[in-house]
Amino acid sequence: MNLSEDLSVVILAAGKGKRMKSEIPKVLHQILGQPILYYILTSVRKLNPKNIFAVIGYGKELVSDYLKNNFPEIKIITQESQLGTAHAICMVKKQKEDFGKNILVLSGDSPLINIETLRKLVKNRASSGSSVCMITSLLPDPKGCGRIIKDASGNIAKIIEETDASAEEKKICEVNSSIYCFETESLFENIEKINTSNIQKEYYLTDIIEILIKNGKKVSCINAANYLEVIGINDRSQLSELENIMQKKINESLMKRGVTIRNPDSCYIESSVIIDGDVVIEPSCFIKGKTRIGKNSVIGPFCQITDTEIGEGSRINASVILGSDIGKNNNIGPYSYIRPGTVTGDGVKIGAFCEIKKSDIARSSKVPHLSYIGDTEIGSGVNVGASSVTVNYDGFKKSKTIIEDDVFIGSDTMLIAPVRIGKGAIVAAGSVIDHDVPSNSLAIERGEQKNIKDGASRYRDKRNLKNEKK
Ligand code: UD1
Ligand code: CA
Repeated sequence: MNLSEDLSVVILAAGKGKRMKSEIPKVLHQILGQPILYYILTSVRKLNPKNIFAVIGYGKELVSDYLKNNFPEIKIITQESQLGTAHAICMVKKQKEDFGKNILVLSGDSPLINIETLRKLVKNRASSGSSVCMITSLLPDPKGCGRIIKDASGNIAKIIEETDASAEEKKICEVNSSIYCFETESLFENIEKINTSNIQKEYYLTDIIEILIKNGKKVSCINAANYLEVIGINDRSQLSELENIMQKKINESLMKRGVTIRNPDSCYIESSVIIDGDVVIEPSCFIKGKTRIGKNSVIGPFCQITDTEIGEGSRINASVILGSDIGKNNNIGPYSYIRPGTVTGDGVKIGAFCEIKKSDIARSSKVPHLSYIGDTEIGSGVNVGASSVTVNYDGFKKSKTIIEDDVFIGSDTMLIAPVRIGKGAIVAAGSVIDHDVPSNSLAIERGEQKNIKDGASRYRDKRNLKNEKK
């Protein structure tokens, strides 16, 4: 039997997630740069089912926008009022679709489930001929979960939710993962038999287990040996727990592939980041989005790098780099801020306390100390002296500065844009340059220096006399 052909997947994601205390729907809270929902959808996509449905409700505009933009094949079902997980399945039943023989139900808030465990679940449902196969697991701390109640012979009898459980039942550590593979007919024939006779007055999908058993149907279980696979996110502390687990996983897989991470617990690297071999990540780095780091680079300590390409052999120290393209063998930092749209050639140096915004800096050029470079094109072999600024904003509009190859800009120079400094020109330190400098010219703009003979001594005597009179 081809399981994919005969399988539909339903993701329950309509709840508000009351325990998150948030206006953002729970499934859109992020883990390592992606919504919680992303992880489960990425997994079930690999099962290649004939349909994937997402039941949404709370914050449905936000959730459906996310789904349409990122998982366009998913069929959205709205559950206007969230009356419980069984009620959510009733919304699915109304769809006029060919579901196939199996319906895999998962919660949008359990992101760590393993694809192999899901495959095993679906296979087991089919081969055991049961009406439902569900995943259970033993949790060290089962608080908040539905507990598995077994009969005298050790078979599952029912699920009891935490709020309805007695003190004795609360001691049970085997819990419902909320991941089930149903035989479609058994699910839809019985779903409407569920009522709201529980403390929360909700339609609990978990009640279907007892109903099926009472109707003589077979219920089977598989156990997730690693309980982390099934834990759900209900509050912010679970959100951070799961984020830590995933962070560890990502860092470990990077280390396996030849990246040195000196203090992994302090480094937050999103799953979308690509890091080549023999890169060293020093402590306290945050590397996010579509970032790629070329081999032999050394990053950190204390870097934030987002959506940036870093060429091989570069050294980035205690700096923030956003949306930029950094060449090979660059040396950046400490304490510099490279803003989106910056492109550097190979062998560029951007030293301490520099801000570079939307600028191109070609091969072997240097901006070593305390500069602001914005909307600027810098050619190759250029040296920008300490404290120099490209004055790109006149209070009304932004303008460009062009500095051609082999230019030398003396320290503390203001280049008032729009302005062009021609190839090989030298600009003397302290100049305010507001018109173009031709190639190979020396530009100097400075008040004349006066040295007043004995002026310093006379000045000091005057001050001392004043102090005596006081
Ligand atoms: C649920 C299970 C519990 C299990 C736990 C595992 C029920 C009644 N309980 O409890 O046995 O141990 O998961 O994580 O099913 N949802 C809807 N519509 C609704 C209500 C909820 O779509 O009307 C969605 C939620 O968005 C969530 C999922 O269903 O993604 C589970 O709901 P949640 O309230 O988190 O249930 P738990 O209390 O965690
Ligand atoms: Ca939950």
